Amino acid sequence: ETSVTPEPPATPRRKKPEELRSHQWYGTEGLRSFSHRARTRQLGYLPEEHLGKPVIAILNTWSDINPCHAHLRDRAQAVKRGVWQAGGFPLEFPVSTLSETFQKPTPMLYRNLLAMETEELLRSYPVDGAVLMGGCDKSTPALLMGAATADLPTVFVPAGPMLPGHWRDEVLGSGTDMWKYWDDKRAGLIGDCEMSELESGLARSPGHCMTMGTASTLTAAAETLGVTVPGASSIPAVDSGHDRMAAASGLRVVELVWQDLKLSEILTREAYEDAVATVLALGGSTNAVIHLIAMAGRSGVRLTLDDFDRIARTVPVLADLRPGGRYLMEDFYFAGGLPGFLARLGDTLHLDRPTVAHASLREQLDGALVHNPEVIRTLDNPLASEGGVAVLRGNLCPDGAVIKHIACERHLLRHTGPAVVFDDYKSMQATINDPALGITEDSVLVLRNAGPLGGPGMPEYGMLPIPDHLLKKGVRDMVRISDARMSGTSYGACVLHIAPESYVGGPLALVRTGDLITLDVEARTLRLEVDDAELERRRAAWTPPPPRYTRGYGALYQEQMTQADTGCDFRFLAAPGADPEPYAG
Ligand code: FES
Ligand code: MG
Repeated sequence: ETSVTPEPPATPRRKKPEELRSHQWYGTEGLRSFSHRARTRQLGYLPEEHLGKPVIAILNTWSDINPCHAHLRDRAQAVKRGVWQAGGFPLEFPVSTLSETFQKPTPMLYRNLLAMETEELLRSYPVDGAVLMGGCDKSTPALLMGAATADLPTVFVPAGPMLPGHWRDEVLGSGTDMWKYWDDKRAGLIGDCEMSELESGLARSPGHCMTMGTASTLTAAAETLGVTVPGASSIPAVDSGHDRMAAASGLRVVELVWQDLKLSEILTREAYEDAVATVLALGGSTNAVIHLIAMAGRSGVRLTLDDFDRIARTVPVLADLRPGGRYLMEDFYFAGGLPGFLARLGDTLHLDRPTVAHASLREQLDGALVHNPEVIRTLDNPLASEGGVAVLRGNLCPDGAVIKHIACERHLLRHTGPAVVFDDYKSMQATINDPALGITEDSVLVLRNAGPLGGPGMPEYGMLPIPDHLLKKGVRDMVRISDARMSGTSYGACVLHIAPESYVGGPLALVRTGDLITLDVEARTLRLEVDDAELERRRAAWTPPPPRYTRGYGALYQEQMTQADTGCDFRFLAAPGADPEPYAG
């Protein structure tokens, strides 16, 4: 499953111990090196346990507050086991945790902070190679963005999906079923008794969300990029195979250090295009659009929204996974997991690029099989003939917007309706059920000031709630548009990531209740049916909202944050250039 005994390359590069980066800290003449050795004795290590060996930093996002990473403290022991067995010297570094469920206003506000922490830890300490441990939504892009910039030999250990949820005789998916039963409760179909049973059944073990939400989407993207051992991303968090995968990752990274195989040799344009194809063929989360653009930026690869739309037209959706489909990640694992899935995509991918485990992706996928064609479809029996995400343009979103069209009701894919505008999330929550708003199933719900800067942090507000009176009538989907993101486990005709956002004066700021808005997914357009002269008059009367922060990290965020179409990285982090090695002797 996670075999990591590749053929040696024809002319393997081999580092000598004195060429290791850590040698600068431990092995040179002089007082500093003596002091570092003395301090390592203080830690209880013999000289022969670490001198001349690759130092492997294990960056661990374990925390008591993060249920998705609850098992990673133990799992780090398996990584260490692998590193020791391979003759390396593992050191665990606790790094900040991004818990999707608990961190407010949204962990998206802190993705770049973890990316900075990752980069700077790897740079400033005696590290030759890295193992990154995470999986809850933004953890994966944050760790990989920082590591891509630091550019050491690196292996990513995905946290793995939690076990399927259960309630009575029903199988429950993360997020998706929470929204569904919450709506049932609001519609009066179930009561407190059922809700308290659901509370204990929705999430049954450590691990990240087990639908094809943002976490599963991005760990699959990481595996496709080639930065995990084969099959890593599909293994359930609490399966013994997850321990073995962690050990294999530790074994592998030591070899990568000796081979001097840096992350930049893995994270190529071809790798990112394959990650995009995979995300789309999985029917994955719209959040991946933002994160992959940001990650690619750190690798010096210019990935654009147009790349997503172009690739979407060439790959079918092959995974029948919730929220778009029927199954959960454990089913996907037993159906062959990501290796089986990627083998189905076959020549759609760039198979001759290297991964951390093999000289080529082709070798990595050799022998990968699909055991259940219901879960992982064949190319001639896809769930949808095109990838799950479409990029929209038009006078409401000059720099683009996205919609996950496979997760909406078909009749809404081409729709014109009158806007009902909410200026922010709070006022939307307070008034959405007010009959005076006259919302019908044809209305287009518009939320603004929910973007990267206006949110702030671009919260997952994009799946605006259907008003109670429409829910009771059986309406389950409406056209909703915003500059927010949407949870990867959400669904519905939600136009997201509108750029530029309303907070900076994008056209979304100019919409008024009653304006007609036309969505046409086939034509890839989103139009505000108001003439340019009127829009100019409104623009002249528009005043920017006050700053969200006056100090601290928020102020830095506000100054440096870029828009959704370019990945929401910080300007100074996305800037090209190299940093000097910090060692001063
Ligand atoms: Fe962590 Fe969903 S809450 S992955
Ligand atoms: Mg999520």
